Amino acid sequence: MKQYRVGLIGTGFIGRAHSIALQGVGAVFPEVTAPVCEILADRDAAGAARSAAAMGFARSTGDWRQLVRDPAVDIVSICSPNYLHREMALAAIAAGKHVWCEKPLALDAAEAREVADAAARAGVVNLVGFNYSCNPLVRVAQSMIAAGDLGRILGFNGRYFEDYMADPAVPYSWRCERRFAGAGALADLGSHLIDMAEALLGPIESVFARLETLHGSRRVPATGETRPVENEDVARGLVRFSRGVGGSFDISRVATGFKCGLAFTVFGSAGSLSFDQERMNELRFYAGADATGRRGFRTILAGPEHPDYGHFCPAPGHGLGINDLKVIEARNLLRAIADGRPAHPGFDVGLRVQRVMDAMERSHAAGAWIDI
Ligand SMILES: NC(=O)c1ccc[n+]([C@@H]2O[C@H](COP(=O)([O-])OP(=O)(O)OC[C@H]3O[C@@H](n4cnc5c(N)ncnc54)[C@H](O)[C@@H]3O)[C@@H](O)[C@H]2O)c1
Repeated sequence: MKQYRVGLIGTGFIGRAHSIALQGVGAVFPEVTAPVCEILADRDAAGAARSAAAMGFARSTGDWRQLVRDPAVDIVSICSPNYLHREMALAAIAAGKHVWCEKPLALDAAEAREVADAAARAGVVNLVGFNYSCNPLVRVAQSMIAAGDLGRILGFNGRYFEDYMADPAVPYSWRCERRFAGAGALADLGSHLIDMAEALLGPIESVFARLETLHGSRRVPATGETRPVENEDVARGLVRFSRGVGGSFDISRVATGFKCGLAFTVFGSAGSLSFDQERMNELRFYAGADATGRRGFRTILAGPEHPDYGHFCPAPGHGLGINDLKVIEARNLLRAIADGRPAHPGFDVGLRVQRVMDAMERSHAAGAWIDI
C-alpha cells in the first residue's frame, strides 16, 4: 500500500495535534498505512527546523509555498491562523495535493465556497478539522437518534463555553481582528458546535442570533497601545433544523471557568441524550421507559463496543483524549485517499458550517431570522 507523504504548515496548538495524529495513526489503525512526516513549514526557517526536529519531520522550510509545491508531498495539513486557510488550501489544491485544513475553513462563506468548489473540481480528498464530532460517543448518539431510542426529536440545546479571553488583560492577538480571524467566538468555537448539531440532527435551515463584544479593547503587547476588538466574545442564537426541530446555541470565549465546554442535549419524546466535551468519555442517556421512581440520566462510558474506541484500548472506561480524536480524523483522511472516495467531514461540511455562521452574523445585523 502506498505511503502518503505529508507537509504540515503551522506548529502551534493544533499543528502539534496533527503531528501527533500523523505519527500515531498507522499504529492505532492497521487498516491504513502510516504516513510519512515529510516536511514542515512555519513562519521562519529556524523555527521550522526546530519544530521539525522535535516533531519528527524529515525536512523543514520557512516558506509554506515551497512545501505546497514540493513534488514529494501528497497531503498538505493546514494548521495556520484562519486568514491563511483559503490561500494555502487553494495553492495546495492547485498543486494536486489532498488537503487536511483546520476549522474554520475560511473567513466567510464566499471564501469557503471558493475553496470547496476548487477541491471538488480538482478531485482531491479534503477534510476539515472538526475533531469533536469524531468522538466514538457522538457516533453512538447518532445511531441512537437514528434508531428511534429517543422517540420523536423535540429539541436541541448546544453550548460551547471557553474562558481564554474572559480576562480583560488577555492581550490583543490575531483572534481579535476580522481580517485574520473572521468572526470571533462564533468562528473559533461556534464552528465546532454547528458541526456537532448538524452531525446529530442534520442541516440547519434558519437562525436568529445576537452577538456581543464584552471586552471592547485590548492591549497590544509589542507597543502597549490599546486596540478595539473587532469581533464578538459571545454569540447566542435560536436555530431551526430542516427536519422541523428547533434549538438554541450559546457560544462564549469569555465564559469564566469553562475550558472546553462544548456540550449538547438532544431532547426526544421517549428519552434524551446529553454530552459535555469536558467529560468526553461519558454520554448521558435518560430513558422515559424506565420504571417510575427509577428514572434518571445514566452514564454510558466509552468502551471498545463503540466505533473506533477498541483500536486505542481494549478496556471500557479508560478513556480517549483530544489527540485520539485527531488520530481518528487522520484515519478518515487516509482511508478516503486510499479508497479514492470523499472524506468526512469534508470541505462541503466546512462550507455548510460557514454558511450558518454567516447567517448568524447577518441575523444579528438585521435583527431578524435568516434562512441558510
Ligand atoms: N480543531 C480544533 O479543535 C482546533 C483547536 C485549536 C486551533 N484550531 C485551529 O487551528 C488554527 C491554528 O490555531 P492554533 O491555536 O494552533 O494557533 P497557534 O497560534 O498556536 O499556531 C499557529 C501556527 O501557524 C504558524 N504560522 C502563522 N503564519 C504562518 C505562515 N505565514 N506560514 C507558516 N506558518 C505560519 C505560527 O507560527 C504557528 O506555528 C486556527 O485556524 C484554529 O481555529 C483548531
